[in-house]
Amino acid sequence: MWNFPLVPEQASTIASKVDAVYWLLVGLSVIFTVLVAAGVIYFTVKYRRGTKADRSNPLHTSMKLELTWSIGPFILGLAVFFWATAAYFSLYRMPTRETLDINVVAKQWMWKMQHPDGRREINHLHVPVGVPVKLTMTSQDVIHSFFVPAFRIKRDVLPGRITTAWFEATKPGTYHLFCAEYCGTEHSVMGGSIIVMEPQDYQTWLTTGNTSGETPQAAGERLFASFGCVTCHGAQSVVRAPKLENVFGSQVTLKTGEKVTADEQYLRESILNSMAKIVAGYDPIMPLYKNQISEEELLQLIAYIKSLATNEGTGKS
Ligand code: CUA
Repeated sequence: MWNFPLVPEQASTIASKVDAVYWLLVGLSVIFTVLVAAGVIYFTVKYRRGTKADRSNPLHTSMKLELTWSIGPFILGLAVFFWATAAYFSLYRMPTRETLDINVVAKQWMWKMQHPDGRREINHLHVPVGVPVKLTMTSQDVIHSFFVPAFRIKRDVLPGRITTAWFEATKPGTYHLFCAEYCGTEHSVMGGSIIVMEPQDYQTWLTTGNTSGETPQAAGERLFASFGCVTCHGAQSVVRAPKLENVFGSQVTLKTGEKVTADEQYLRESILNSMAKIVAGYDPIMPLYKNQISEEELLQLIAYIKSLATNEGTGKS
């Protein structure tokens, strides 16, 4: 039968908004293409050689006509802009509700995911339906891109940087995950699937299979001790170092007077290169951890620092 979908299935809360913008643009393009083509055909026929059409070409101007074709498209353009911006914001702003936080590390050529309870997966991601899922992503080699057409989300996954994305699946099923950035020989097979399950099935799934791993938060706490972070940042420390409780999501004032939001990217940079942004009132005494901590360990440390914050989920990431 008729099976030639023009757009992928809509399986997330954002999908219909993205499609609305898409169809709006397609619709406008069709309308104007038809108008122009109809004009071309009409005048071609009317003024073809030998017809008795009026060719005296009288000069006249019409202010009304000029204004109509200037102001009309201007308003249309603005409408498209605001509509698309609204969709963009709902796509890029983290939801204010509590999210299920998944860590994603991309490498040539696979996706490594970790659930908040420690469960790991490769190239597959099981998530519950109707729950906002937040992806905290980084790459350990080159640029990749996390692309799930059915959810209408695509976000680059970069080495040396943490990017975030979110989605909320609206119906159970299995959806394709693609890498959408050419990343080498096996780029085309660097994919997998997102398996959306009923919440109770997800809970059951979490308890089956490979569940022995420690949670990212616990791993982070272990690393926090083993890298010696606790010596300065711990509660009993005598060294003057910024306290990390409630730092995630807060506004931090730097020595330069600048204010920055302590998001994942800020934490990552401050761990690897503490000299980049010195917090006001503190001395630059922290050692650099560049090349000592893997991307995965970084995400775990960040998960631990996040867990020290009670203001998480303020949507400021
Ligand atoms: Cu990873 Cu293309």
